[in-house]
Amino acid sequence: MASTSTNAGLEIVRELRANCERPFNDAHSMPPRVYTSADFLALEECEIFRKEWLCVGRVSALKQPGDYVTADIAGQPVVVLRGDDGELRAFSNVCLHRMSILLEGRGNVRRIVCPYHAWNYSLDGALRGAPLMEQQQGFCKEHYALPQVRCDTWQGWVYVTLDPHVPPVAERLADLTALIDVYGMSSYVETFYEEHVWNTNWKLLAENFMESYHLPMLHRATVGPHSRLEEMECPPGFPAFNYHWITKEASLPIGNAHPDNRRLEGHWRKTTALLAVYPTHLITLTPGYFWYLVLQPQGVGKVHIRFGGGLAPEFVEDPKGAEYMATLKHLLDEVNAEDRRGVEAVFRGVHAPLAKPGHLSHLERPNYDFARYIAQRLAQ
Ligand code: FES
Ligand SMILES: [Fe+2]
Repeated sequence: MASTSTNAGLEIVRELRANCERPFNDAHSMPPRVYTSADFLALEECEIFRKEWLCVGRVSALKQPGDYVTADIAGQPVVVLRGDDGELRAFSNVCLHRMSILLEGRGNVRRIVCPYHAWNYSLDGALRGAPLMEQQQGFCKEHYALPQVRCDTWQGWVYVTLDPHVPPVAERLADLTALIDVYGMSSYVETFYEEHVWNTNWKLLAENFMESYHLPMLHRATVGPHSRLEEMECPPGFPAFNYHWITKEASLPIGNAHPDNRRLEGHWRKTTALLAVYPTHLITLTPGYFWYLVLQPQGVGKVHIRFGGGLAPEFVEDPKGAEYMATLKHLLDEVNAEDRRGVEAVFRGVHAPLAKPGHLSHLERPNYDFARYIAQRLAQ
Protein backbone atom coordinates (compact mmCIF):
# COMPACT_ATOMS: atom_id res chain seq x y z
CA MET A 1 0.00 0.00 0.00
CA ALA A 2 1.33 3.46 -0.87
CA SER A 3 2.44 5.56 2.08
CA THR A 4 0.71 8.80 3.02
CA SER A 5 3.58 10.81 1.63
CA THR A 6 3.53 8.91 -1.68
CA ASN A 7 -0.21 9.58 -1.86
CA ALA A 8 0.38 13.27 -1.22
CA GLY A 9 2.96 13.31 -4.02
CA LEU A 10 0.61 11.45 -6.39
CA GLU A 11 -2.18 13.90 -5.68
CA ILE A 12 0.11 16.71 -6.88
CA VAL A 13 0.98 14.64 -9.95
CA ARG A 14 -2.74 14.38 -10.72
CA GLU A 15 -3.10 18.13 -10.38
CA LEU A 16 -0.12 18.62 -12.70
CA ARG A 17 -1.52 16.15 -15.23
CA ALA A 18 -4.88 17.92 -15.32
CA ASN A 19 -2.98 21.14 -15.90
CA CYS A 20 -0.97 19.55 -18.74
CA GLU A 21 -4.05 18.29 -20.54
CA ARG A 22 -4.91 21.83 -21.61
CA PRO A 23 -3.95 22.69 -25.20
CA PHE A 24 -0.89 24.92 -25.48
CA ASN A 25 -2.90 28.03 -26.39
CA ASP A 26 -4.67 27.74 -23.04
CA ALA A 27 -1.70 26.38 -21.05
CA HIS A 28 -0.86 27.41 -17.49
CA SER A 29 2.36 27.21 -15.51
CA MET A 30 2.81 24.29 -13.10
CA PRO A 31 0.86 24.21 -9.81
CA PRO A 32 2.75 25.69 -6.83
CA ARG A 33 3.09 22.45 -4.89
CA VAL A 34 5.30 20.83 -7.56
CA TYR A 35 7.96 23.29 -6.39
CA THR A 36 7.40 23.12 -2.64
CA SER A 37 6.42 19.56 -1.76
CA ALA A 38 9.01 17.14 -0.35
CA ASP A 39 6.69 14.29 -1.34
CA PHE A 40 6.73 15.47 -4.94
CA LEU A 41 10.54 15.70 -4.86
CA ALA A 42 10.68 12.13 -3.52
CA LEU A 43 8.71 11.01 -6.58
CA GLU A 44 11.02 13.00 -8.87
CA GLU A 45 14.00 11.26 -7.28
CA CYS A 46 12.53 7.80 -7.90
CA GLU A 47 11.02 8.35 -11.32
CA ILE A 48 13.33 10.94 -12.87
CA PHE A 49 16.69 11.23 -11.14
CA ARG A 50 17.20 7.49 -10.62
CA LYS A 51 16.08 6.66 -14.16
CA GLU A 52 17.46 9.33 -16.47
CA TRP A 53 20.90 10.14 -17.83
CA LEU A 54 22.28 13.05 -15.82
CA CYS A 55 25.05 15.30 -17.09
CA VAL A 56 28.02 15.82 -14.76
CA GLY A 57 30.12 18.14 -16.98
CA ARG A 58 32.49 18.16 -19.93
CA VAL A 59 34.63 15.21 -21.03
CA SER A 60 37.56 17.66 -21.14
CA ALA A 61 37.43 17.88 -17.32
CA LEU A 62 38.50 14.22 -17.32
CA LYS A 63 41.48 14.20 -19.67
CA GLN A 64 44.22 12.49 -17.63
CA PRO A 65 44.20 9.15 -15.80
CA GLY A 66 42.98 9.86 -12.28
CA ASP A 67 40.93 12.96 -13.21
CA TYR A 68 37.59 12.73 -11.44
CA VAL A 69 34.32 14.57 -10.88
CA THR A 70 31.74 13.76 -8.22
CA ALA A 71 27.97 14.10 -8.25
CA ASP A 72 24.96 13.09 -6.19
CA ILE A 73 22.09 11.27 -7.85
CA ALA A 74 19.04 11.30 -5.61
CA GLY A 75 21.10 10.40 -2.55
CA GLN A 76 23.62 8.15 -4.33
CA PRO A 77 27.08 9.75 -4.38
CA VAL A 78 28.85 8.96 -7.66
CA VAL A 79 32.40 9.52 -8.89
CA VAL A 80 33.35 9.55 -12.57
CA LEU A 81 37.01 8.77 -13.24
CA ARG A 82 39.43 8.43 -16.13
CA GLY A 83 41.17 5.07 -15.59
CA ASP A 84 44.84 4.20 -16.17
CA ASP A 85 43.68 2.48 -19.36
CA GLY A 86 42.07 5.71 -20.61
CA GLU A 87 38.50 4.49 -20.04
CA LEU A 88 35.87 6.61 -18.32
CA ARG A 89 34.10 4.79 -15.50
CA ALA A 90 31.65 5.78 -12.82
CA PHE A 91 31.37 4.23 -9.37
CA SER A 92 29.47 4.54 -6.15
CA ASN A 93 31.47 7.16 -4.23
CA VAL A 94 30.91 5.36 -0.90
CA CYS A 95 33.60 3.40 0.92
CA LEU A 96 33.10 -0.35 1.28
CA HIS A 97 34.32 -0.31 4.89
CA ARG A 98 32.06 1.88 7.04
CA MET A 99 30.54 3.79 4.16
CA SER A 100 32.25 7.17 4.27
CA ILE A 101 32.07 9.35 1.18
CA LEU A 102 35.35 8.82 -0.68
CA LEU A 103 36.13 11.75 -3.00
CA GLU A 104 34.81 15.31 -2.89
CA GLY A 105 34.43 17.89 -5.69
CA ARG A 106 36.74 17.46 -8.68
CA GLY A 107 40.46 16.73 -8.97
CA ASN A 108 43.06 14.11 -9.79
CA VAL A 109 44.10 11.06 -7.76
CA ARG A 110 46.46 8.12 -8.29
CA ARG A 111 44.28 6.01 -6.02
CA ILE A 112 40.96 6.54 -4.31
CA VAL A 113 41.93 6.70 -0.65
CA CYS A 114 39.16 6.80 1.92
CA PRO A 115 39.63 9.78 4.24
CA TYR A 116 38.39 7.75 7.23
CA HIS A 117 40.60 4.62 7.69
CA ALA A 118 42.54 4.70 4.42
CA TRP A 119 41.04 1.75 2.60
CA ASN A 120 42.17 2.46 -0.93
CA TYR A 121 41.02 1.59 -4.41
CA SER A 122 42.63 1.60 -7.84
CA LEU A 123 41.04 3.65 -10.60
CA ASP A 124 39.08 0.61 -11.80
CA GLY A 125 37.31 0.43 -8.42
CA ALA A 126 39.13 -2.63 -7.03
CA LEU A 127 40.12 -2.54 -3.36
CA ARG A 128 43.94 -2.55 -3.28
CA GLY A 129 44.76 -1.79 0.32
CA ALA A 130 43.11 -1.94 3.74
CA PRO A 131 45.50 -1.07 6.58
CA LEU A 132 45.92 -3.60 9.41
CA MET A 133 43.15 -5.90 8.25
CA GLU A 134 45.41 -9.00 8.11
CA GLN A 135 44.26 -10.34 11.47
CA GLN A 136 40.67 -10.57 10.31
CA GLN A 137 40.60 -13.94 8.66
CA GLY A 138 37.10 -13.46 7.34
CA PHE A 139 38.25 -10.41 5.34
CA CYS A 140 39.46 -10.87 1.80
CA LYS A 141 40.17 -7.68 -0.10
CA GLU A 142 39.69 -9.39 -3.45
CA HIS A 143 36.00 -9.65 -2.60
CA TYR A 144 35.62 -5.89 -2.59
CA ALA A 145 35.10 -3.61 -5.61
CA LEU A 146 33.20 -0.33 -5.83
CA PRO A 147 29.81 -0.85 -7.49
CA GLN A 148 29.93 0.50 -11.02
CA VAL A 149 27.44 3.04 -12.36
CA ARG A 150 26.71 3.53 -16.08
CA CYS A 151 28.57 6.34 -17.74
CA ASP A 152 28.32 7.61 -21.32
CA THR A 153 29.40 10.56 -23.44
CA TRP A 154 27.62 12.67 -26.06
CA GLN A 155 28.83 15.81 -27.90
CA GLY A 156 31.66 16.34 -25.41
CA TRP A 157 29.48 15.85 -22.30
CA VAL A 158 29.64 13.13 -19.64
CA TYR A 159 26.43 11.59 -18.36
CA VAL A 160 25.75 8.99 -15.68
CA THR A 161 22.66 6.97 -14.81
CA LEU A 162 21.64 4.57 -12.07
CA ASP A 163 19.28 2.82 -14.49
CA PRO A 164 20.74 -0.28 -16.13
CA HIS A 165 18.12 -0.30 -18.89
CA VAL A 166 17.83 3.24 -20.28
CA PRO A 167 19.17 3.39 -23.89
CA PRO A 168 22.57 5.07 -24.53
CA VAL A 169 22.60 8.89 -24.46
CA ALA A 170 23.24 9.18 -28.20
CA GLU A 171 20.10 7.17 -28.83
CA ARG A 172 18.02 9.13 -26.31
CA LEU A 173 19.23 12.41 -27.85
CA ALA A 174 19.36 11.36 -31.52
CA ASP A 175 16.79 14.03 -32.48
CA LEU A 176 18.83 16.70 -30.73
CA THR A 177 22.02 15.55 -32.44
CA ALA A 178 20.26 15.96 -35.78
CA LEU A 179 19.23 19.52 -34.86
CA ILE A 180 22.56 20.83 -33.55
CA ASP A 181 25.29 18.57 -34.96
CA VAL A 182 26.28 21.31 -37.39
CA TYR A 183 27.80 23.38 -34.54
CA GLY A 184 30.37 20.66 -33.69
CA MET A 185 29.79 21.13 -29.96
CA SER A 186 32.23 18.31 -29.02
CA SER A 187 35.10 20.50 -30.15
CA TYR A 188 34.10 23.51 -28.00
CA VAL A 189 36.66 24.17 -25.27
CA GLU A 190 35.63 24.84 -21.68
CA THR A 191 37.34 27.94 -20.31
CA PHE A 192 35.53 28.40 -17.01
CA TYR A 193 33.75 26.23 -14.47
CA GLU A 194 32.14 27.15 -11.15
CA GLU A 195 29.70 25.69 -8.66
CA HIS A 196 26.94 27.58 -6.85
CA VAL A 197 23.93 26.90 -4.65
CA TRP A 198 20.77 29.01 -5.08
CA ASN A 199 17.69 29.11 -2.88
CA THR A 200 15.07 27.86 -5.28
CA ASN A 201 13.52 24.68 -6.60
CA TRP A 202 15.52 23.06 -9.37
CA LYS A 203 12.61 23.22 -11.82
CA LEU A 204 12.20 26.98 -11.43
CA LEU A 205 15.78 27.47 -12.54
CA ALA A 206 15.37 24.99 -15.41
CA GLU A 207 12.20 26.79 -16.54
CA ASN A 208 13.88 30.15 -16.31
CA PHE A 209 16.61 28.93 -18.63
CA MET A 210 14.23 27.52 -21.20
CA GLU A 211 12.23 30.68 -21.87
CA SER A 212 13.43 34.04 -23.17
CA TYR A 213 10.15 35.84 -22.40
CA HIS A 214 11.76 37.23 -19.22
CA LEU A 215 14.74 38.85 -20.97
CA PRO A 216 13.35 42.38 -21.53
CA MET A 217 12.17 42.81 -17.93
CA LEU A 218 14.29 40.69 -15.57
CA HIS A 219 17.43 41.50 -17.57
CA ARG A 220 16.54 45.12 -18.29
CA ALA A 221 19.87 46.27 -16.81
CA THR A 222 21.96 43.91 -18.97
CA VAL A 223 20.86 41.97 -22.05
CA GLY A 224 17.17 42.99 -22.00
CA PRO A 225 17.45 46.07 -24.22
CA HIS A 226 19.22 44.00 -26.93
CA SER A 227 16.68 41.17 -26.84
CA ARG A 228 13.99 41.19 -29.49
CA LEU A 229 11.38 38.60 -28.68
CA GLU A 230 10.14 38.56 -32.28
CA GLU A 231 13.50 37.02 -33.24
CA MET A 232 12.86 33.94 -31.12
CA GLU A 233 11.42 30.69 -32.38
CA CYS A 234 10.00 28.20 -29.88
CA PRO A 235 9.07 24.98 -31.68
CA PRO A 236 7.41 22.08 -29.83
CA GLY A 237 9.90 19.93 -27.93
CA PHE A 238 10.87 16.26 -28.15
CA PRO A 239 10.44 13.55 -25.49
CA ALA A 240 13.96 14.02 -24.07
CA PHE A 241 14.56 17.73 -24.56
CA ASN A 242 13.17 21.09 -25.64
CA TYR A 243 14.83 23.96 -27.44
CA HIS A 244 14.39 27.38 -28.94
CA TRP A 245 16.35 29.48 -31.37
CA ILE A 246 17.48 33.10 -31.38
CA THR A 247 18.27 34.13 -34.92
CA LYS A 248 19.86 37.55 -34.67
CA GLU A 249 23.33 38.89 -35.24
CA ALA A 250 25.05 38.77 -31.83
CA SER A 251 26.39 42.00 -30.37
CA LEU A 252 29.61 40.30 -29.22
CA PRO A 253 31.78 38.84 -32.04
CA ILE A 254 32.02 35.42 -30.35
CA GLY A 255 28.24 35.07 -30.62
CA ASN A 256 28.58 34.73 -34.41
CA ALA A 257 30.66 32.25 -36.40
CA HIS A 258 34.37 33.04 -36.61
CA PRO A 259 35.58 33.77 -40.20
CA ASP A 260 37.62 30.53 -39.99
CA ASN A 261 34.54 28.49 -39.05
CA ARG A 262 33.80 26.26 -42.07
CA ARG A 263 31.16 24.14 -40.35
CA LEU A 264 28.37 26.71 -40.27
CA GLU A 265 26.73 28.27 -43.30
CA GLY A 266 24.01 30.84 -44.00
CA HIS A 267 21.69 31.61 -41.09
CA TRP A 268 23.53 29.11 -38.86
CA ARG A 269 26.43 31.55 -38.61
CA LYS A 270 24.30 33.82 -36.41
CA THR A 271 21.88 31.37 -34.81
CA THR A 272 21.91 30.57 -31.09
CA ALA A 273 20.34 27.35 -29.78
CA LEU A 274 18.92 27.24 -26.26
CA LEU A 275 18.70 23.62 -25.20
CA ALA A 276 17.09 21.99 -22.20
CA VAL A 277 18.13 18.34 -22.04
CA TYR A 278 15.80 16.73 -19.52
CA PRO A 279 15.96 16.77 -16.67
CA THR A 280 18.84 19.03 -15.63
CA HIS A 281 21.22 19.95 -18.45
CA LEU A 282 20.77 23.44 -19.89
CA ILE A 283 22.95 24.73 -22.71
CA THR A 284 23.26 27.99 -24.62
CA LEU A 285 25.05 27.05 -27.82
CA THR A 286 26.19 29.80 -30.18
CA PRO A 287 28.42 29.64 -33.26
CA GLY A 288 31.34 31.02 -31.24
CA TYR A 289 30.85 30.06 -27.60
CA PHE A 290 28.72 28.01 -25.24
CA TRP A 291 27.70 28.12 -21.62
CA TYR A 292 25.70 25.73 -19.51
CA LEU A 293 24.08 24.90 -16.21
CA VAL A 294 23.81 21.42 -14.73
CA LEU A 295 21.35 21.25 -11.84
CA GLN A 296 21.23 18.98 -8.83
CA PRO A 297 18.39 19.46 -6.33
CA GLN A 298 19.34 19.74 -2.67
CA GLY A 299 15.90 19.35 -1.15
CA VAL A 300 12.96 21.29 -2.56
CA GLY A 301 14.40 24.72 -1.76
CA LYS A 302 18.02 24.57 -2.87
CA VAL A 303 19.68 23.75 -6.15
CA HIS A 304 23.35 22.99 -6.72
CA ILE A 305 24.53 24.45 -10.01
CA ARG A 306 27.49 23.53 -12.18
CA PHE A 307 28.07 26.63 -14.31
CA GLY A 308 30.61 26.44 -17.10
CA GLY A 309 31.31 27.52 -20.64
CA GLY A 310 33.90 28.29 -23.25
CA LEU A 311 34.74 28.85 -26.88
CA ALA A 312 34.39 27.24 -30.28
CA PRO A 313 37.81 26.07 -31.50
CA GLU A 314 38.33 28.97 -33.97
CA PHE A 315 37.98 31.47 -31.14
CA VAL A 316 40.39 29.47 -28.95
CA GLU A 317 42.97 30.10 -31.70
CA ASP A 318 41.98 33.75 -32.13
CA PRO A 319 44.24 36.09 -30.12
CA LYS A 320 41.18 38.08 -29.07
CA GLY A 321 39.07 35.00 -28.21
CA ALA A 322 40.05 34.87 -24.55
CA GLU A 323 39.48 38.61 -24.19
CA TYR A 324 35.99 38.30 -25.67
CA MET A 325 35.28 35.35 -23.40
CA ALA A 326 36.34 37.37 -20.35
CA THR A 327 33.92 40.12 -21.42
CA LEU A 328 31.20 37.54 -21.89
CA LYS A 329 31.89 35.91 -18.52
CA HIS A 330 31.56 39.27 -16.84
CA LEU A 331 28.18 39.74 -18.54
CA LEU A 332 27.05 36.18 -17.71
CA ASP A 333 27.85 36.78 -14.04
CA GLU A 334 25.58 39.83 -14.04
CA VAL A 335 22.87 38.02 -15.96
CA ASN A 336 23.08 35.07 -13.55
CA ALA A 337 22.75 37.40 -10.58
CA GLU A 338 19.54 38.75 -12.15
CA ASP A 339 18.28 35.23 -12.83
CA ARG A 340 19.08 34.29 -9.24
CA ARG A 341 16.97 37.16 -7.95
CA GLY A 342 14.20 36.14 -10.37
CA VAL A 343 14.03 32.43 -9.53
CA GLU A 344 14.48 32.95 -5.79
CA ALA A 345 11.60 35.44 -5.87
CA VAL A 346 9.41 32.90 -7.67
CA PHE A 347 10.31 30.28 -5.07
CA ARG A 348 9.11 32.64 -2.34
CA GLY A 349 5.99 33.39 -4.37
CA VAL A 350 4.91 29.79 -4.94
CA HIS A 351 4.54 29.27 -1.17
CA ALA A 352 1.82 31.92 -0.92
CA PRO A 353 -1.67 30.66 -0.01
CA LEU A 354 -3.11 32.77 -2.83
CA ALA A 355 -0.51 31.71 -5.43
CA LYS A 356 -1.91 30.03 -8.51
CA PRO A 357 -0.60 29.29 -11.99
CA GLY A 358 -1.36 31.78 -14.77
CA HIS A 359 -1.39 31.45 -18.56
CA LEU A 360 1.87 30.79 -20.39
CA SER A 361 2.89 33.05 -23.28
CA HIS A 362 3.58 31.66 -26.75
CA LEU A 363 7.29 32.09 -25.92
CA GLU A 364 6.98 29.61 -23.05
CA ARG A 365 6.35 26.61 -25.24
CA PRO A 366 9.43 24.87 -23.76
CA ASN A 367 7.93 25.29 -20.26
CA TYR A 368 4.72 23.62 -21.42
CA ASP A 369 6.73 20.72 -22.83
CA PHE A 370 8.86 20.46 -19.68
CA ALA A 371 5.73 20.31 -17.49
CA ARG A 372 4.34 17.54 -19.68
CA TYR A 373 7.65 15.68 -19.46
CA ILE A 374 7.56 15.84 -15.64
CA ALA A 375 3.92 14.78 -15.53
CA GLN A 376 4.51 11.90 -17.89
CA ARG A 377 7.58 10.59 -16.02
CA LEU A 378 5.80 10.70 -12.67
CA ALA A 379 2.68 9.04 -13.97
CA GLN A 380 4.59 5.85 -14.84
S1 FES B 1 34.99 4.07 6.05
FE1 FES B 1 36.43 4.07 4.47
S2 FES B 1 38.17 3.19 5.33
FE2 FES B 1 36.74 3.14 6.93
FE1 LIG C 1 17.60 34.87 -17.58
